Amino acid sequence: MKLLVCCLLAITCCVLANADNVERTMKLTEVLKELRQLNKSVEHNGVMLNTPTLDIEECCFLSTLECFKKMVPHLKTKQKKLQRKVIRNLSPLTFTGVDSCSREERENKVCQGCDSYPMKDSREFVQQLESLLQKAMTRLV
Ligand SMILES: *[C@@H]1O[C@H](CO)[C@@H](O)[C@H](O)[C@H]1NC(C)=O
Repeated sequence: MKLLVCCLLAITCCVLANADNVERTMKLTEVLKELRQLNKSVEHNGVMLNTPTLDIEECCFLSTLECFKKMVPHLKTKQKKLQRKVIRNLSPLTFTGVDSCSREERENKVCQGCDSYPMKDSREFVQQLESLLQKAMTRLV
């Protein structure tokens, strides 16, 4: 009997955790779609932006995300509404579960500053942000 309860609990847990991940993956897929849509409307006219590399150190994922988020408003587009939507969705909430660091661990970690990343043109920037989103999907825990 005890064993059965244990099994049921384990299964329930497993199913719930997966449902969580399905939801997160869907959210990330949505942001990815919005980003591609936004990209189509961007005038890639040589605007240069600090572009984080993706060899992200332990517990620095959100810091890297913050840097991308800070740069998106500089993309030249007439689709302001879509731009705002993308910015809003690049929130830590969208990326829950991408790393397993605690708040404390994050606070104690010194991550690379946004200004120290190389300047890339807007086309490369969007490309890199797309890669970040794809990476986030594979790293869901
Ligand atoms: C963004 O759009 C440009 C053309 O405007 C295209 O060359 C590039 O591949 C697009 N990038 C992504 C990530 O979709």
